[in-house]
Amino acid sequence: MPLTKEIARRRTFGIVSHPDAGKTTLTEKLLLFGGAIQEAGAVKSNKIKKGATSDFMEIERQRGISVATSVLAFEYHGKKINILDTPGHKDFAEDTFRTLTAVDSVIVVIDVAKGVEEQTEKLVQVCRMRQIPIIVFINKLDREGKDAFDLLDEVEQKLGLRVVPLSFPIGMGYEFKGIYNIWEQKLNLYSGENKQKISKGIEFNDIQSPELEKKIGEKSAQTLREEMELVTEIYPTFDRQSYLEGRLQPVFFGSALNNFGVKELLDCFIEIAPAPLAKMSDERLVKPEEDKVTGFVFKIHANMDPNHRNRLAFVKIVSGVFTRNVPYLHVRLDKRFKFSSPNTFFAEKKEIIEKSYPGDIVGLPDTGNFKIGDTLTEGEILNFKGIPSFSPEHFRYINNADPMKSKQMAKGVDQLMDEGVAQLFTMESNGRKIIGTVGALQYEVIQYRLEHEYGAKCTYENINVHKACWVDPENPNNEEYKEFVRIKQRYLARDKQGQLVFLADSAFSIQMSQQKYPTVRLHFTSEFK
Ligand code: G4P
Repeated sequence: MPLTKEIARRRTFGIVSHPDAGKTTLTEKLLLFGGAIQEAGAVKSNKIKKGATSDFMEIERQRGISVATSVLAFEYHGKKINILDTPGHKDFAEDTFRTLTAVDSVIVVIDVAKGVEEQTEKLVQVCRMRQIPIIVFINKLDREGKDAFDLLDEVEQKLGLRVVPLSFPIGMGYEFKGIYNIWEQKLNLYSGENKQKISKGIEFNDIQSPELEKKIGEKSAQTLREEMELVTEIYPTFDRQSYLEGRLQPVFFGSALNNFGVKELLDCFIEIAPAPLAKMSDERLVKPEEDKVTGFVFKIHANMDPNHRNRLAFVKIVSGVFTRNVPYLHVRLDKRFKFSSPNTFFAEKKEIIEKSYPGDIVGLPDTGNFKIGDTLTEGEILNFKGIPSFSPEHFRYINNADPMKSKQMAKGVDQLMDEGVAQLFTMESNGRKIIGTVGALQYEVIQYRLEHEYGAKCTYENINVHKACWVDPENPNNEEYKEFVRIKQRYLARDKQGQLVFLADSAFSIQMSQQKYPTVRLHFTSEFK
């Protein structure tokens, strides 16, 4: 098949949600459609179970599972679908942010009863920053929840989206009768009896027809007609281009657990969702149909077994046909590497692959050469943009508890940071190291892994930091900047890339600094140029 056709049939996306909204359940149902798994319950949950939040052995176990579910690929109606898994646990949000740099679109799952939750807000904010096309799936319609219009309002208000419902629920909870599929003009009735059975829906392009009463009863028919009228009045008509540009977000309703409304979602998704997109690098825009291979590392997975230090670097192919045993340039190291066993992922199986196309994810066994954000090419000097660091939420000094093991400690910290487990800041004033994390859980993970994988021991010490702000002076030579650096010296550090960071101890201090030094811009993410 020519490259352009291979590209056109690929859909690489992520499912994001607040924990428990139904991401795992939906993923599993999508895989069922693709025939990638035969029964429900086959996908192991990648989430950290409730109550196990401080059990790092559990984290280790989960890490093992999550390698298998990192990428779930399947074929559906001639399309090659790659689902990139994102950890639901908030302490691993940074991982999710990074995975979002490798997707071409996302599906956001929202619980009908809980509405928009905190984690969803954060994740959607990142998607919006990158203009990633979003489809919203409102889940658990078999339960009592919020009124559909109220919920759509909430999605617009809290997530800053402009929605257009492409399906609409008929009743909810006890009264849930099904959905009207606006996209395909079909009526899909819910029985709730057979979770494996997939209702095909009844063609129904005129909801004014008296047939509607026969199908769903007088009261529901009346309500549906009124609601459909409102939908037409309030919401814009669907326009694919606006969706692709991140300016309009289609919404589907359903119940993942009951496999209801999922087929509608998937059928529409494969039609409207984007094929692999061009990606900006520091040097130029790289188009997927270019014949030279390019790709970037967005995730690194360490082996759980300390005897096998191999890691797996996940590379998203941006252009060309990635081929086994062909030497590619690792741009940062300026060194060629060839890969004899690149892995591909099919459902839950990992296999060695000969060729991969744009949109695909390959897992490259690595002994420590890769870090997140690295670019591979056939020789061109390119650096893909967009693996930003966000300000961590927690900060602690890290100390070496065993002076005999300082080398191991340095290596361990270095590699764990390359994997993206946490962020390292080095104080300008005294060279002390600070670890910044999104969740407190990471400190245990780091301590545990340093000890078990590198034979090093660390202790932590509290430090009062509110937020890390990346410093961006309008003019590094002006007096204002020089004064800022002098006055704030005690709070300045370098991140791993050498960028200057202001570790502010309060929101007030950020505000004051912005007032006093307006030409010294402060950013909450490392990507601002
Ligand atoms: P997550 O990955 O987003 O964290 O959510 P997950 O799919 O694990 O779903 C969270 C809980 O919600 C699960 O129940 C799941 O069965 C339930 N759920 C998912 N979709 C629906 C739905 O459409 N309707 C209803 N009523 N429930 C749904 P659990 O009790 O936490 O886990 P389990 O014991 O069922 O695995």
